[in-house]
Amino acid sequence: YKRVTVKSLVDMKRQGEKISMLTAYDFTTAKIVDGAGTDVILVGDSASNVMAGHETTLPITLDQMIYHASSVVRAIKRSLVVVDLPFGSYQSDAKEALRSAIRIMKESGGHAVKLEGGSEVKDSIKRILKAGIPVMGHLGLTPQSIYKFGTYTVRAKEEAEAEKLKKDALMLEKLGCFALVLEKVPAHLAKEVAKSISIPVIGIGAGNGVDGQVLVITDMLGMDKSFSPRFLRRYADLHDIMSNAIETYNSDVKTGDFPNQDEQY
Ligand code: KIV
Ligand code: NA
Repeated sequence: YKRVTVKSLVDMKRQGEKISMLTAYDFTTAKIVDGAGTDVILVGDSASNVMAGHETTLPITLDQMIYHASSVVRAIKRSLVVVDLPFGSYQSDAKEALRSAIRIMKESGGHAVKLEGGSEVKDSIKRILKAGIPVMGHLGLTPQSIYKFGTYTVRAKEEAEAEKLKKDALMLEKLGCFALVLEKVPAHLAKEVAKSISIPVIGIGAGNGVDGQVLVITDMLGMDKSFSPRFLRRYADLHDIMSNAIETYNSDVKTGDFPNQDEQY
């Protein structure tokens, strides 16, 4: 396996090869995601929602992110592992941000960190990069600021917000981020941003004019039927596959069909 690096992602953009990224939060899933040839595995703070069952990404802690990330890192042979800095671990000042990023790198073995925001978190990004830790940016819908915006609807539809987003993207490139995520923004805006910078733009709900795509693994595998935003394509119906298997198991246990002669010692 040739390992994916932050440098290979920038090369992929230059060569026009699209980047595939998916989330993973545990060893067994990460092994499958890596083995299937995914370029980047994001240990997203979406673990707060899809692993822990919280309504938002705000409650997940740095320790919990490190637990998820270290589980993922043990499974991978090729993918680049990017770990989200959780809410509260980088916003207060650059020193705290660096301390949090160092903990992730040392204790999980991840290869890079991601954090949300533009000019607001400039000093934190600078400080982390200065320590030699690669940083992925995240603009557009930034779920850690959900209480500021109030909804999960599409962002930067208005001129002022779009202008700030474009400026922030240029700033992230200039600071030295190796890539950035654009979440839930109009496709024409995402395309314009991707064209304006040399680092890869990975979209989620940001259309096809960007340099790569990311989805949450439990969403794209169809594990939760109640979540179906327009941008989501389901590649499997794991909810039904798992549910049917478990129902059959339950019934086999009740009837005494499981285990049979061959399944015992
Ligand atoms: O936490 C996450 O899953 C993310 C992706 C949606 C980009 O940040
Ligand atoms: Na996230």
